[in-house]
Amino acid sequence: MAEILIRDVAKTFGKTTIMQGVSLSILKGEFVVILGPSGCGKSTLLRLIAGLEEISSGEISIAGRVVNQLEPRERGCAMVFQNYALYPHMTVAENIGYALKVAGTPKAERNARVAATAKSVGLSDFLDRKPGQLSGGQRQRVAMARAIIREPKVFLFDEPLSNLDAKLRVQMRHEIRRIHNRIKATSVFVTHDQHEGMTLADRLVVMNKGTIEQVGTPQEIYDHPASLYVAGFIGSPAMNFLPGQLSAARRGVLLENGSLVPLAQMPDLADGHMVQIGVRPEHTTLAARGSGTIEVRVDMIEELGSGRLCNLLFEDIPLCALTEARPELAAGDAVGLLFDPGQIHLFDSATEKRVATRRVTASGRQMQANPA
Ligand SMILES: Nc1ncnc2c1ncn2[C@@H]1O[C@H](COP(=O)(O)OP(=O)(O)OP(=O)(O)O)[C@@H](O)[C@H]1O
Ligand SMILES: [Mg+2]
Repeated sequence: MAEILIRDVAKTFGKTTIMQGVSLSILKGEFVVILGPSGCGKSTLLRLIAGLEEISSGEISIAGRVVNQLEPRERGCAMVFQNYALYPHMTVAENIGYALKVAGTPKAERNARVAATAKSVGLSDFLDRKPGQLSGGQRQRVAMARAIIREPKVFLFDEPLSNLDAKLRVQMRHEIRRIHNRIKATSVFVTHDQHEGMTLADRLVVMNKGTIEQVGTPQEIYDHPASLYVAGFIGSPAMNFLPGQLSAARRGVLLENGSLVPLAQMPDLADGHMVQIGVRPEHTTLAARGSGTIEVRVDMIEELGSGRLCNLLFEDIPLCALTEARPELAAGDAVGLLFDPGQIHLFDSATEKRVATRRVTASGRQMQANPA
């Protein structure tokens, strides 16, 4: 059953509509990550769920109850922010137990719950310290503990790790996922970091300019991006794109310079239809000059330690190939670039949406091989 149900929500600030047509169903116990670039409306969506902003139209329900008219404290959500917002003059124990104190929980019960919660996030040895005497990661754990102790129905996280250094970020990411696996509270986590989103999420929600572009598991979104936008946003280094037109006779896409990219399956679109081919850098291979799917020039090779990032130019379109081998190549060299035909994505140039390709099965029935 859906724990959070968002139905056709819009948000307007003054005369500016910054969000519209947002519908999303989040299951009980699910860890959902909202991903998107700066300004796309991630924090606003979280604040609408929490009740810190009022929705302009639509409906939000939490645990089966419409919460449009409810105050934030009546919604059963606990929010964890980027800046932790700890009380600097209180000890760790006082910070963690503050909500219980305000609610009038008896001291003995409060102390027991503070001790148990602190233990669950590894803070037992720090209960008497002030926030100023803690590291960034420890402060983040206090913020988590302060949310956990309220036993909320829903956790809302707004970029809680972005103030931490890279190593601590990964540690805290694991810790948040471990805590989630233990307490299984429904969680909505906002980030603009795709790696963080991919690794944390049961399901990802990709946002673009105040609307939802795609919802799916990280693998579904990586394998079947629904639009050019999602395809370019998810995956690092980013997917390569090449414009061209479908050629039924030659069973492929004809690029502007006359090169043909063969397709494993032809889509249900008219001959000559304008499309964009998408190929991820990890699904390309460098080949001898004259033997590639297309012919390119080397712009720059970057050493990654575990592999090499080959920055290439096709005419004036920059492309990227990921190789494990150390190619003996220098800037300006001409090489071939092969595409794995089973790993080619197609997008309609006009609508920018994914194009489904179909193949004919042995029984002659059409079957969707590459669902949009
Ligand atoms: N109180 C406000 N009044 C007017 N416009 C606002 C207000 N709050 C947010 N906005 C606008 O709404 C849009 C979405 O903002 P939001 O903070 O939700 O983005 P975000 O995805 O969280 O971005 P970031 O990754 O930078 O935190 C932005 O264009 C922002 O300028
Ligand atoms: Mg934000």
